[in-house]
Amino acid sequence: MTSVSDPISEIEESAMRELGRVSDSSQLEAWRHGYLGRKGKLTRVLRGLADLPLEERRSLGAEANRIKLRLQAAYQEQRARLEQDRVAKVTEGERLDVTLPGPPLPRGSLHPITQTLRDVLEAFENMGFQVVEGPEIEWDYYNFEALRIPADHPARDMWDTLWIDHEGDGRRSMLLRTHTSPNQIRIMEHTQPPIRVVVPGKCYRFEATDPTHEWMMTQVEGLAIDDGISMADLKGTLTEFARRIFGEERSVAFRCDYFPFVEPGMELRIDCFICRGEGCRTCGRTGWIEILGAGMVHPEIIANAGYDPDRYTGFAFGLGIERIALLRHGVDDIRHFYANDLRFLQQF
Ligand code: DAH
Repeated sequence: MTSVSDPISEIEESAMRELGRVSDSSQLEAWRHGYLGRKGKLTRVLRGLADLPLEERRSLGAEANRIKLRLQAAYQEQRARLEQDRVAKVTEGERLDVTLPGPPLPRGSLHPITQTLRDVLEAFENMGFQVVEGPEIEWDYYNFEALRIPADHPARDMWDTLWIDHEGDGRRSMLLRTHTSPNQIRIMEHTQPPIRVVVPGKCYRFEATDPTHEWMMTQVEGLAIDDGISMADLKGTLTEFARRIFGEERSVAFRCDYFPFVEPGMELRIDCFICRGEGCRTCGRTGWIEILGAGMVHPEIIANAGYDPDRYTGFAFGLGIERIALLRHGVDDIRHFYANDLRFLQQF
């Protein structure tokens, strides 16, 4: 006796066999289409049930439904397995352990001159000075004339100058500023007292380099003008500055010096780091190291600015950042700062 259930158990068997061989999602879809799709083999059997006598319809229908559910479940299972395999393959080559520390990033640092400049400016800002800037290319007028250094004045020898022949006629009226002092004039031109500023900037000198001289350097100019400013203010401000930058225990000393734009002029010295005042090679056996020039603003400059010289007085100072960085870090040659040797720079 042939049983009507034969072809459908065959369908079940072959379906399960083929499903076992399916190895990607397009094969899987083709399989589903072939058995469970609208025109699939099993679907056709289920449709044919309607034509059968009641008895057969019952038993065959139950069996066909069981097979349908089994194939559907098997389909879902196979689909999940294929998806798992696919994900496993993709991530195989790129496994990521999120608990591992990342590769270290090399950290840069500020140039030692920038560090010292920022510290110096911060010290003055904390004492109430404002930071302003001026041009590196300057007129003879601001760099020299207005600072009481006329063309034939022997004091011009203090600054070896890089001139700019801007008209091409050899006339000397423009230059690379040799110091930041021209900013004293520039500020006074457009400001009324009280004035309390510091001006950082690059300066240039036409000179041969050696361990203590470079053709480019960084200066900070200071200027304070007000009713009744005295030499005591100058000494107090600069002594406080030296202690903030070099340490509380520093000794400072003022000594007469000459600069055409101040009267009197002076230099500030601190006791030598190396020998603590005994006298050594670094300090030229004097026990002292000069760190800046300063003085009381010349009354003629006050008057030229249009301020009342009977009422207003002021002090000015100029310091070299490279000099201070050398002293702070015990560097023996100023030229290291601009040689761009990373072995040197990475030490700061
Ligand atoms: N400009 C001077 C120089 O480069 C330094 C200086 C001295 C600045 C005395 C001043 C000052 O403001 O009062 O050598």
